[in-house]
Amino acid sequence: MMEIYKGELSDVTRYLERHDQIPLEKMEVNFELIMDKITPFKAVDEHTEILEIGVGTGWIPIICKKKGLRCKGIEISPQLVEYAYEYGRRYGIEPDIELGNIEDTDIGESRYDVIIATSVFEHVEHWREGLEKVYRALRPGGVFFFFSTNRFSLRSGEFDFPLYGWLPNAWRYRLRVSRQGEDIMKLGIDFNQFTFRQLKRAFTKLGYTTIYDRLDLFCLGSSGASKSAKGRILRVVNHIPPLKHLALLFAPGTQFVCIK
Ligand SMILES: C[S@@+](CC[C@H](N)C(=O)[O-])C[C@H]1O[C@@H](n2cnc3c(N)ncnc32)[C@H](O)[C@@H]1O
Repeated sequence: MMEIYKGELSDVTRYLERHDQIPLEKMEVNFELIMDKITPFKAVDEHTEILEIGVGTGWIPIICKKKGLRCKGIEISPQLVEYAYEYGRRYGIEPDIELGNIEDTDIGESRYDVIIATSVFEHVEHWREGLEKVYRALRPGGVFFFFSTNRFSLRSGEFDFPLYGWLPNAWRYRLRVSRQGEDIMKLGIDFNQFTFRQLKRAFTKLGYTTIYDRLDLFCLGSSGASKSAKGRILRVVNHIPPLKHLALLFAPGTQFVCIK
């Protein structure tokens, strides 16, 4: 299981170099994109209990607080927890973020209406246990928003190397250690390159009543993109199982909204 490392880790430093100085207003656009996927299934207001797992710079808990929403965060990196509080202070906001590893932090039972995990479960070594905790921590009717890696995507957001996600785990780990140093295995490595089928099976087994994948969500959306020519094609693809399977197999990431 991943440990919490107190010292500086190179992947966190690299992450902060890429994300420092991004104005909160810019992140609000991303925040709305996530909310657009959640709110058709769960109204979000000041009484909604939200949890984010793996907060990065803390933008989601910070924006929630700014909007008068209740959102708690759990984050494994002390460096990032500290950064998130500093990021919030720049805007006069104190977010609610706890240091912890989702693998062994108690997040309770039937406690949250919404749980968000974006670009984090690929880093959670025991991901099935983590997803089980999420399911237990949701209230009936609660919504889980999930975004992560897609093994067969043609380009990887994790690491710039041709067909990176397709490589066997041991090869990926070796490649990352050789390029980025041993401490990538302490935090930053993607233990998991998921597939849609694998995740859908895991969510179904957990007991979610409804599971929407990336294409379903796109087709349900009312954005301009879903009404464009490409959008019309994707609506057709979504109704033809072999085509849908192919589209999801190579999509740039896995995305799900699961309702308990
Ligand atoms: C790629 S960042 C994504 C940050 C944010 N969710 C976003 O989408 O901008 C992954 C985050 O998850 C955190 N993380 C990784 N493994 C974790 C674990 N087992 N428990 C809690 N947080 C974890 C990392 O430290 C980092 O902040």
